[in-house]
Amino acid sequence: MKVLVVGGGGREHALVWKLQQSPQVEQVFCAPGNPGMKGVVPVPVDGLGELADFAEREGIALTMVGPEAPLCAGLVDVFRARGLRIVGPDKRAAQLEGSKAFAKDFMRRHGLPTAASGVFTACEPALDYLRQQGAPIVVKADGLAAGKGVIVAMTLEEAEAAVRDCFSGRFGEAGARVLIEECLFGEEASILALTDGRTIVPLASSQDHKRLGDGDTGPNTGGMGAYSPAPVVTDALWATIRREVLDRFLAGCQADGLDFRGVIYAGIMVTDTGPKVLEFNVRFGDPETQAVLMRLDSDLAEALAATADGRLGDVQLAWSEDPAVCVVMASGGYPEHYEKGLPITGIEAAEATGAVVFHAGTKLAAGKLVNNGGRVLGVTARGTDLRAALDRAYRAVNCISWPGAYYRRDIAHRALARG
Ligand code: AMP
Ligand code: GLY
Repeated sequence: MKVLVVGGGGREHALVWKLQQSPQVEQVFCAPGNPGMKGVVPVPVDGLGELADFAEREGIALTMVGPEAPLCAGLVDVFRARGLRIVGPDKRAAQLEGSKAFAKDFMRRHGLPTAASGVFTACEPALDYLRQQGAPIVVKADGLAAGKGVIVAMTLEEAEAAVRDCFSGRFGEAGARVLIEECLFGEEASILALTDGRTIVPLASSQDHKRLGDGDTGPNTGGMGAYSPAPVVTDALWATIRREVLDRFLAGCQADGLDFRGVIYAGIMVTDTGPKVLEFNVRFGDPETQAVLMRLDSDLAEALAATADGRLGDVQLAWSEDPAVCVVMASGGYPEHYEKGLPITGIEAAEATGAVVFHAGTKLAAGKLVNNGGRVLGVTARGTDLRAALDRAYRAVNCISWPGAYYRRDIAHRALARG
């Protein structure tokens, strides 16, 4: 079959890479894709009708959506209305990521463990609530804000400034509603699962590194690296997450009549009183996917087709015991200002070490590969143990250079510290 992946970052490159390994797949296209892959289609992710036109014209048997924006805009609805097979929640179900208030309400009604919170549509009541609750406290813009709409405020002043920012339009429409949430403490883990609305099949656990600097310091980013599995998720914790998060998620979708045939990602905080859901994403994580897919022994195309068709009950996923890590190489200055168009060298040498280099913010300029975004490459490797995977990934990273290239040197430090 022919497959289309929608998106153009590191996550989508990893999806393309894995789908190409399927004996059922004759060709993989990616819109808009990136220079790391073949089969790029110059259609942007917000070209909903154009994407469906392409899928029809090319006889695409299965479409997989990477990012949240087209899901929240209703890409799945457009495809299904035209009889095209696609993996992802429909527009209504995508609100589980598109609106934090919608997600909270869902979790509360269906008994999923999560932080206590209030939802506000005006500044003054929000400020009153803040003063009642005190700091530390978390302020979240309701809508999609490209990962920037969450402020973990250590002081009341910071929290008040965040609330005022939201209501003064800093996040546009996304901040017209604001959630104020109890601050949770613990270690985070990313739990991804496939669901077809009848069955839910967890993927391997993972953890990402949101902060820019070593030791989890500095500003938040889109993710500076990831590893799988996440040893914080012990067998006992898995059992609890399965029961209290994944099973209740599925039952909630069924009770609410949400059409969710796709990937659900629960960001979990492992607290002293058990796992709590920090957020839902309605898609694969980036860069978790790069590490997780490197451990998947099963046929991804078959699993995704089963997800779209409601046949997941027949699917069993097989995973390699070997851990995998992804080290993100970013432009110097990211997540603030950075220079673009700088020539990148050493990718072939990096891949000769056995690592896979997934492209994200790259571009071809006059035939040369240059940086074109904040997160540029995801250097990903597997090893017989975590240390071996890290050695392989960092050896590959050391082959690659461009002026100002930056990466964290401590990916998976929490897992290493557990021994
Ligand atoms: P979210 O987009 O909701 O996952 O928030 C992004 C990040 O903010 C999470 O990965 C956490 O590190 C942090 N965060 C979100 N909610 C909370 C909370 N209630 N308590 C502490 N940290 C949080
Ligand atoms: N790695 C976090 C995310 O994909 O949202």
